[in-house]
Amino acid sequence: MVDTLTSPSPSMWRFHHRRWIPTLFSSYKTLFTLLWIVGFTSVFIWQHNVVEGFLIFRRPLVSRSFPQLRPFSFNLTDFGAVGDGITLNTKAFEDAVSAISKLGKRGGGQLNVPAGKWLTAPFNLTSHMTLFLAEDAVILAIDDEKYWPLMPPLPSYGYGREHGGPRYGSFIHGQHLKDIVITGHNGTINGQGQKWWKKFRQKRLNHTRGPLVQIMWSSDILISNITLRDSPFWTLHPYDCKNVTIRNMTILAPIFQAPNTDGIDPDSCEDMIIEDSYISVGDDAIAIKSGWDQYGIAYGKPSKNILIRNLVVRSMVSAGISIGSEMSGGVSNVTIENILIWKSRRAVRIKTAAGRGAYVRDIKYRNITFDNVRVGIIIKTDYNEHPDKGYNPKAFPVIRDISYRSIYGEGVRVPVRIQGSADIPVRNVSFKDMSVGIAYKKKHIFQCAYLQGRVIGSIFPAPCKNLHLYDEQGRLVRKSNSENASDIDYDI
Ligand SMILES: *[C@@H]1O[C@H](CO)[C@@H](O)[C@H](O)[C@H]1NC(C)=O
Ligand SMILES: *[C@@H]1O[C@H](CO)[C@@H](O)[C@H](O)[C@H]1NC(C)=O
Ligand SMILES: *[C@@H]1O[C@H](CO)[C@@H](O)[C@H](O)[C@H]1NC(C)=O
Ligand SMILES: *[C@@H]1O[C@H](CO)[C@@H](O)[C@H](O)[C@H]1NC(C)=O
Ligand SMILES: *[C@@H]1O[C@H](CO)[C@@H](O)[C@H](O)[C@H]1NC(C)=O
Ligand SMILES: *[C@@H]1O[C@H](CO)[C@@H](O)[C@H](O)[C@H]1NC(C)=O
Ligand SMILES: *[C@@H]1O[C@H](CO)[C@@H](O)[C@H](O)[C@H]1NC(C)=O
Ligand SMILES: *[C@@H]1O[C@H](CO)[C@@H](O)[C@H](O)[C@H]1NC(C)=O
Ligand SMILES: *[C@@H]1O[C@H](CO)[C@@H](O)[C@H](O)[C@H]1NC(C)=O
Ligand SMILES: *[C@@H]1O[C@H](CO)[C@@H](O)[C@H](O)[C@H]1NC(C)=O
Ligand SMILES: *[C@@H]1O[C@H](CO)[C@@H](O)[C@H](O)[C@H]1NC(C)=O
Repeated sequence: MVDTLTSPSPSMWRFHHRRWIPTLFSSYKTLFTLLWIVGFTSVFIWQHNVVEGFLIFRRPLVSRSFPQLRPFSFNLTDFGAVGDGITLNTKAFEDAVSAISKLGKRGGGQLNVPAGKWLTAPFNLTSHMTLFLAEDAVILAIDDEKYWPLMPPLPSYGYGREHGGPRYGSFIHGQHLKDIVITGHNGTINGQGQKWWKKFRQKRLNHTRGPLVQIMWSSDILISNITLRDSPFWTLHPYDCKNVTIRNMTILAPIFQAPNTDGIDPDSCEDMIIEDSYISVGDDAIAIKSGWDQYGIAYGKPSKNILIRNLVVRSMVSAGISIGSEMSGGVSNVTIENILIWKSRRAVRIKTAAGRGAYVRDIKYRNITFDNVRVGIIIKTDYNEHPDKGYNPKAFPVIRDISYRSIYGEGVRVPVRIQGSADIPVRNVSFKDMSVGIAYKKKHIFQCAYLQGRVIGSIFPAPCKNLHLYDEQGRLVRKSNSENASDIDYDI
């Protein structure tokens, strides 16, 4: 880090003191003790300086100026906003968005949010808009639900996710837009979810909670270089969108007691990249979705062509990267690579159920590391959560063409649990180059049921007998005749 270079060098300091020490003390032992004390003190002082340097580095006296990313830009304060954390700035945000909405034909406009705490009710974005958050700028969501508008349920869900009927809209919202950028110098959008989570637990809400950022039926979206935190519900929810890039983000919520605070939920989206980010939340860090049972089947819009890479994620309640369980429009062509999942309940999971219909196929996992997770790889086909009784129990999803390459880890209780069923067999799954350290038992740790597929080369732990074995050159070594055998044990 650059700032440490300006701290006094600890080795210089120690050298200076060493020169006079031998002239005063003849005993080798005393000298040694003294050197130890001097060394310890200098390390202490050095650390102290680093911490101080770090604070100075984090809070520059002169804040970085706003880059000009659009032909027109506005300062939030131009619209009368007050960043004291108390004044409600809804009108300022709405007026700013309205001003920018008139500039679309001329390249759009940028709204600069300076350092401060800008409390507001939910507001909408407009096309050709850049929302730029300065360092130490915080857009704070008002946590009184009276200010949150109700919206119709998502068509592919039929329901608010938690209650029937309408749902709360998102804090930052947009529909039918094009060319949206939300970025900054790591400013924060804070959903102040604490009251929502509490009311949800106490069953005091009559409608599904609102996401933090939800953009629907839109294209060309870039969200980067900012922090999203404490969403009432799912944090970032692109719904039926095309061409979405999410890069260099920090997404945070408490790892416990923040129900359904998924990090990013690509939902019926295509051409999407999520990369270079850190996510630690109270539910799935990422969950790729595409609608729920009969509503999702009728809406019929898949999530596809999605690349997820270079992430560090954590989820103590659910999983690092999930697909489903709502996947009734289908999910295909997803690549998930260079991911570290640490201290989590589950690492990578596909979840579905009878009634969902559609498919999950062409999913590639590559270079995934599990650091102290309970269960590593999971496919679960009986995730029986339905919107209502109107689902078709014979609508069986097709789960196939899934590859796991370069899977590493340590401290894992169950590296693999793939549970197909007679109705929903899991097909054409392949494993290559896997080495996962086990934390607990040595038996029943590669659990399979109704799984057809192959292992290429040797992997650790040894695979279940459901899989065919091939050598590195692709020659069949052992053909399995027990693809439908079942060894699933939820007790470990
Ligand atoms: C925005 O307005 C505030 C308050 O008037 C001011 O302190 C700040 O310098 C302005 N920033 C820019 C980039 O104009
Ligand atoms: C925000 O957009 C939604 C959906 O287009 C709309 O129903 C709502 O009235 C808008 N809210 C405001 C304040 O413009
Ligand atoms: C990531 O965002 C931070 C601010 O949040 C910025 O300082 C850093 O340069 C960005 N990194 C890249 C690679 O864009
Ligand atoms: C951005 O802010 C978050 C929250 O304060 C912090 O955890 C993260 O390290 C910051 N990112 C950068 C690149 O400074
Ligand atoms: C929920 O509905 C009940 C009964 O209609 C009402 O008393 C209560 O105020 C409502 N709660 C909220 C948060 O709207
Ligand atoms: C995707 O969106 C970005 C803006 O985020 C834009 O620069 C790019 O041209 C779009 N790509 C396509 C293929 O439309
Ligand atoms: C993120 O911030 C860095 C450093 O300011 C900048 O170079 C980069 O272009 C930004 N990235 C995006 C995608 O906005
Ligand atoms: C699969 O998705 C990637 C983006 O991750 C895209 O580049 C590629 O063209 C897609 N493949 C097909 C067959 O659509
Ligand atoms: C594998 O992923 C890790 C992050 O978990 C990353 O540090 C490493 O560079 C990746 N390796 C390759 C070969 O991409
Ligand atoms: C099996 O899945 C792989 C992708 O993992 C795909 O390339 C291949 O075509 C599939 N094989 C069959 C027989 O469907
Ligand atoms: C395994 O079960 C699947 C689906 O129930 C069936 O299609 C397949 O024939 C069975 N395989 C064997 C070897 O019994």
